[in-house]
Amino acid sequence: PASDPDLVARARAAKEALGDKVFVLGHHYQRDEVIAFADVTGDSFKLARDAAARPDAEYIVFCGVHFMAESADILTGPDQQVILPDLAAGCSMADMARLTQVEAAWAALEAAGVADSVVPVTYMNSSADIKAFCGRHGGVVCTSSNAEVALEWAFEQKGGVAGGAKVLFLPDQHLGRNTAVLQMGLGLDDCVVYDPHRPDGGLSPEQLSDATTILWKGHCSVHGRFSAEVVDQLRATIPDVQILVHPECTHEVVLKADLVGSTEFIIKTIEAAPAGSSWAIGTELNLVKRLAAAHPDKRITFLDKTVCYCSTMNRIDLPHFVWAMESLVAGTVVNRIEVDHETEKWALVALERMLALPG
Ligand code: 13P
Ligand code: SF4
Repeated sequence: PASDPDLVARARAAKEALGDKVFVLGHHYQRDEVIAFADVTGDSFKLARDAAARPDAEYIVFCGVHFMAESADILTGPDQQVILPDLAAGCSMADMARLTQVEAAWAALEAAGVADSVVPVTYMNSSADIKAFCGRHGGVVCTSSNAEVALEWAFEQKGGVAGGAKVLFLPDQHLGRNTAVLQMGLGLDDCVVYDPHRPDGGLSPEQLSDATTILWKGHCSVHGRFSAEVVDQLRATIPDVQILVHPECTHEVVLKADLVGSTEFIIKTIEAAPAGSSWAIGTELNLVKRLAAAHPDKRITFLDKTVCYCSTMNRIDLPHFVWAMESLVAGTVVNRIEVDHETEKWALVALERMLALPG
């Protein structure tokens, strides 16, 4: 539906009044009405970098989800304030790994006598305290753009896979499995899944000791919905269709895809595709619809039969955006996201290790 013209005018006026004081970041899964006001758009890796590159902006209005705003707060200066227009914009995947649960998992690794060989790697889609846990334990953050390099780095820290190194991958089992198996060439049976709701993760000390990759039992509720059957159906109905998916999709879906990559990769692939080519894309629907609208010369289909928005990303809508911006104009900072000093210090260690990775 078209945006409320009054709200559009108010958002425009507030942005103009704030000028360079405000920098608006928009994740690719945001609604069109919000993306229209973003100074930059990107995936979570690019947005973290972009936030760090604007030390002059007093306010960073983050149109995305809670963990992204936390990362922006960690990477920006102490005088910069990060604002999330709706505090209810969380991420169900990030919520699947709580610090107490991860500490219990580490205790299970210690009890099995393997913790000294394990490097924790957390996906950007995790809370700041999980990133800090990784910072404290010699680990690193990764995104869907650099998961392979991050995993390679992590294994090398403990002498490589052949030297007995292990990785604890948090919180997305699918990104972890797809990267370990399809990019690094590890076996499916080198991976075990740690279930935080079962004693010792549901794994025996032998299983922990034999595995190279210990995957946290978390997933994305959006990307987890794409199915291998729909891939088969689309291949049967659209001649020459190419299947392009995000690595948060299940292993079965990724195995059947032609291309796999982050949201930035998906966008670049479609931009570079020849006119007349056919694509079925497995990622969040706001992004797929925008790509289809921007490339009418290419046939772009959504890889699902049902609506597949990220409900928490969608919580950032024009009324919340206008409220946050007009509050700033009036001199009130609402919904500030502020990570405490100790958490920030260690999360920054893990984030800086990521930013220093090659590539
Ligand atoms: P990227 O933006 O890193 O591709 O991740 C997708 C996602 O699910 C963000 O929440
Ligand atoms: Fe979280 Fe998935 Fe939504 Fe991204 S798309 S914010 S991983 S629930």
